[in-house]
Amino acid sequence: MQLAVNIDHIATLRNARNEQQPDPVTAAMIAELAGASGIVCHLREDRRHIRDRDLERLRETVTTKLDLEMAMTEEMQQIAIRTKPELITLVPEKRQELTTEGGFNIALHYDRLVEYIKPVQEAGIEVSLFIEPDKQAVTLAAEAGADLVELHTGPYSLKKKAGDINAEINRIRTAAIFARENGLRVVAGHGLNYYNIIPFSRIEEIEEVSIGHALIARASLVGIESAVKEMLRLINNSRSK
Ligand code: PXP
Repeated sequence: MQLAVNIDHIATLRNARNEQQPDPVTAAMIAELAGASGIVCHLREDRRHIRDRDLERLRETVTTKLDLEMAMTEEMQQIAIRTKPELITLVPEKRQELTTEGGFNIALHYDRLVEYIKPVQEAGIEVSLFIEPDKQAVTLAAEAGADLVELHTGPYSLKKKAGDINAEINRIRTAAIFARENGLRVVAGHGLNYYNIIPFSRIEEIEEVSIGHALIARASLVGIESAVKEMLRLINNSRSK
């Protein structure tokens, strides 16, 4: 399992004073040097953390894989085609939310989605859909022509009891197997941290996790290099058991 690092909250801290530091592009470089397999940023409609210029600079400097999280809007489609990240991840976006709250409702937007992703893929960009880990969502993602799905681990991250945790892991694993059988690559993310990653990383069908808040919170105390390396150590250790 590989680790993509979401650097949005480096920008959140920078924007708190509207100055230049800390710089999300520098953070991305250090994360890559520490072993991250990709850099994720979410360009929100309100630009509350990552801004357009950050995305341009990230495109110039990221050498692993740049994943642009975005809402399904015309503006974002144009930005993606112009900037050419390796990957876009479509997420539902509500203005008032603190973070992405649920998976993308493919059934609701199906026809528009099919048309929306075509020019993006023609520009050489892969398309991932952030979805709930259930068969219906996976089936629709495959039919709509997505390249990957990112399974929503938010509900998993909130479970406290062992039985509930195992049930959620099984639900995610079942969805991951089904997605692969349907020709989709599978990643996962949301709410993963240094504790819940340990059981989670045993799900072999998931090729990469996308982690932001917990990792940047740790990095604010011990540095990004240590924060990334420690997360990779946990992922690799629990996998080898
Ligand atoms: N994946 C998606 C689709 C997200 O929207 C987010 C939050 O930006 C993440 C992963 C990372 O979540 P967290 O910050 O809780 O690690």
